[in-house]
Amino acid sequence: MSGKTSVPVHVGIIMDGNGRWAQRRGLPRQAGHKAGAETVRKVISAAAEEGIRYLSLFAFSTENWARPEEEVRYLWNLLCWYLEHFTKELKKSGAKLRAIGRLEELPQAAQEALKHSMEETRDCSGIDVILCLNYGGRAEIVDAARKLVEDSRRGLLDPRELDEARLRSYFYAPDVPDLDLVIRTSGESRLSNFYLWQAAYAELWVSNVLWPDFDRAELSRALAWFGTRERRFGGLKPC
Ligand code: FPP
Repeated sequence: MSGKTSVPVHVGIIMDGNGRWAQRRGLPRQAGHKAGAETVRKVISAAAEEGIRYLSLFAFSTENWARPEEEVRYLWNLLCWYLEHFTKELKKSGAKLRAIGRLEELPQAAQEALKHSMEETRDCSGIDVILCLNYGGRAEIVDAARKLVEDSRRGLLDPRELDEARLRSYFYAPDVPDLDLVIRTSGESRLSNFYLWQAAYAELWVSNVLWPDFDRAELSRALAWFGTRERRFGGLKPC
């Protein structure tokens, strides 16, 4: 759709600033992640109430494995804890949980917790919450290319028929529309390998708030700003 829009269909959030939030309070980084998980809860219900149809949360990137082992372990345990305690709440918000990324590389316990929560919420139809876990935009394109080459080898795909729509059909969640709005917290304005293809025409909102302090009011500010944007998708500004 071109022109001014109201509620974005697909919002992606790069949740940044947990470590700084903790540091400013003299707490270990883990405390920032724990507070960040609490924010995830609140933002999902706020997004559902705002009428957002798809919410993607960048929770663990393919690059995050480079963090200290203890922090990485903590993050996966936190995910398991979150899913164990809040799946019921997700269901109540009408949220269907989904996950994308190289999920087969996640710790077994995280894979199982995800499977359980996804099954529990699979009939929810208010909002799709897409957790991006061990996700990288480049990795997604590489994984799509691998499947595509495999299909071509098996005679299922003629390379001459390859176009953008066909390539996109090999992505992790091809039914999910491109991003309308990307929010990044903590004042950083990088995309950091988040949805490289699907964010091609997304509006970018940089919030100076650290992720644990992000709230409904800040989400509303981002949405209000989005509503003022003139989206042209490479076309001309209307006279
Ligand atoms: C970035 O902040 C945050 C992460 C890499 C992890 C995101 C995790 C959560 C928000 C909590 C758990 C999520 C779920 C879905 C339960 P940072 O650590 O890079 O912060 P810094 O830049 O201030 O150091």
